[in-house]
Amino acid sequence: MDEEFGLLDTDETDSPGDEWEEIDYSDTEADRIARERDREFSQFRDRITDADQFKVQESVFDEATYGALYKLVQDGHIDAFGGPISTGKEANVYSALAGEHEARSASEQPSGDGEEPRGQEVAVKIYRINASDFREMGEYLEGDPRFEQVANDKKAIVIGWVRKEFANLDRALAAGVRVPKPIAVERNVLVMEYLGTADGRAKRLSEVHVENPRTAYEVVREYMTRLYDAGIVHGDLSEYNIVIQESELVVIDVGQAVTIHHPNSDDFLDRDCENVAAFFARQGVDTDGEQLREYVEAHANPRSE
Ligand SMILES: Nc1ncnc2c1ncn2[C@@H]1O[C@H](COP(=O)(O)OP(=O)(O)O)[C@@H](O)[C@H]1O
Ligand SMILES: [Mg+2]
Repeated sequence: MDEEFGLLDTDETDSPGDEWEEIDYSDTEADRIARERDREFSQFRDRITDADQFKVQESVFDEATYGALYKLVQDGHIDAFGGPISTGKEANVYSALAGEHEARSASEQPSGDGEEPRGQEVAVKIYRINASDFREMGEYLEGDPRFEQVANDKKAIVIGWVRKEFANLDRALAAGVRVPKPIAVERNVLVMEYLGTADGRAKRLSEVHVENPRTAYEVVREYMTRLYDAGIVHGDLSEYNIVIQESELVVIDVGQAVTIHHPNSDDFLDRDCENVAAFFARQGVDTDGEQLREYVEAHANPRSE
């Protein structure tokens, strides 16, 4: 085992997405807050556990998750919590009011196209360390040298995963793909731009009637091409991980995205192409997975670094 991994080219593990090694998984600031339990934290924790929106589910968060939320409030990323947006297998997503930090940086920016600034909301994605089913994550983790050292430690996997999701959002943005802007990450909690409309959270592509499927398809195809050109494959792309906000398509859920160095990246690209093409074919677009993949490959020149 050791020998095999000893052969890894260290330059290779420095490529985008390989920032794992520096993370201290064992004792995060959130863990320390939860352990020390000063009065303010205890009050915060009690307030959150009593809040209606956190009662909807069977599994309560562990202490250090409250520690992470507390830290995010202290650091000015979150103010008050709103309701749940989604309760998934591994993670729940909540809306929240942006804290001072975000409110300030948002007001420094001109509001662009004259759109109404939307009451400074953020989305908070909380991974449940104990409830996580890592079989689903397995195919993304196996063979990823970054994960080999932490493979047996649930907490470390989740912390690493969330960091990767944050980093992948940054990479996607840099590649010119519309994704929620990442705001902060703390232990198993990710804060990002909230995607909403006047009627609530932005709907998934699977939930709406797509008015102009050909145009939407071309946009998604362009996103996939730009990601691939930047050396990234989403790995779980479908009508469930693309939302529509004011007629703009936004890609979400990039935690599992891998670089083209990942041994399965080729299969993931195939699967993404199949899923996306199948959805749009059902909407009447003349395409299939193979055509889509050919397009992406013909229009991208993935850099190896
Ligand atoms: N930034 C966001 N803004 C608004 N809604 C979001 C945001 N991120 C996720 N959601 C909603 O939460 C759901 C679950 O989030 P997702 O990241 O896809 O996690 P999961 O791993 O549970 O699929 C999404 O389908 C979407 O409806
Ligand atoms: Mg999803």
